Amino acid sequence: MYSGLPVKIGRAAEGDTFEAAVLAGLARRPRAVPAKFLYDAQGSALFDAICELPEYYLTRTEIAILRDCVPDIAALAGPGRQLVEFGSGSSTKTRLLLDGLHKVAAYLPIDISVEHLEASSRRLRRDYPLLPVVPVYADYMDMPVLPWLPGAADAPRLGFFPGSTIGNLDRHEAREFLHNARRLLGRGGALVLGADLKKDPEMLHAAYNDSAGVTAAFSLNLLLRMNRELDANFDARAFAHDAFYNSGEGRIEIYIRSLCPQWVRVAGRPFFFDTGERIHTEYSYKYDLGDIDALSASAGFVRARTWTDPHRLFSVHYLTAAGDEPG
Ligand code: TRP
Repeated sequence: MYSGLPVKIGRAAEGDTFEAAVLAGLARRPRAVPAKFLYDAQGSALFDAICELPEYYLTRTEIAILRDCVPDIAALAGPGRQLVEFGSGSSTKTRLLLDGLHKVAAYLPIDISVEHLEASSRRLRRDYPLLPVVPVYADYMDMPVLPWLPGAADAPRLGFFPGSTIGNLDRHEAREFLHNARRLLGRGGALVLGADLKKDPEMLHAAYNDSAGVTAAFSLNLLLRMNRELDANFDARAFAHDAFYNSGEGRIEIYIRSLCPQWVRVAGRPFFFDTGERIHTEYSYKYDLGDIDALSASAGFVRARTWTDPHRLFSVHYLTAAGDEPG
């Protein structure tokens, strides 16, 4: 059997240090720092608070949809699946699937945080003592293979990619991700995908500009993280959180914007910010069913079923490998 410790596959994003990403990202035009660096301990706690905000409908809506549709997913998937989660974090939503699917052969959470993998695997093994949990330390954008499981090698795979994380990938990356997932999930593979839907721009705007200012604090925490870890001297009050819906591109764009001309030092290097100059941190693409169909088809999947909430805010899809029969 396996040791129970995370299995490392591929480069696990170990080469991408915060310092290297920030120095490269601030030297480039337009300036950009990858969104994954928003999630240090403080950032993760602030993001958990975002998920509780009245304006941030995404998390609670997806959980409500999953609660209702898990019996349908279980029927489509059939018994004896390996459940593979791309970017598992704390594996909270996974429990809905683990409770509803029939005879899960194994659970493989994939994450770039060993701390998340160890903590969530420990809790899952405690709560599901009969379930083999095989944590995989890898970057799901750069993962050549999945571990071979003695005893469950023939179990068809069911992927899980919730949270509209697909929306944080640009169109090219989203296709690459799905294409790679299609390959990793293999024969009889299927994918449960969560995607935020296109809707009234004002409602989208509010979800990323809450009245309590938690989203702004989350965004600006990136500067404070640079101060803590890279010996930077950002004055967070001289910058603003800047998020808006770009309807042409169908995405929320998120930036940190300088409020005045200023010099900042990061890891011993000086950077000038003019008034209005921005650091891009994230896109959050919004989808409609046509977008999901086109994306799926381009990556070898077929959309077999879709579930949504009564207000059609968020969607959960069951994609099957093209050419395979559903279930
Ligand atoms: N993945 C989340 C989303 O797209 C991330 C997010 C929510 C976010 N609010 C933010 C990222 C504010 C940066 C700033 O909805």
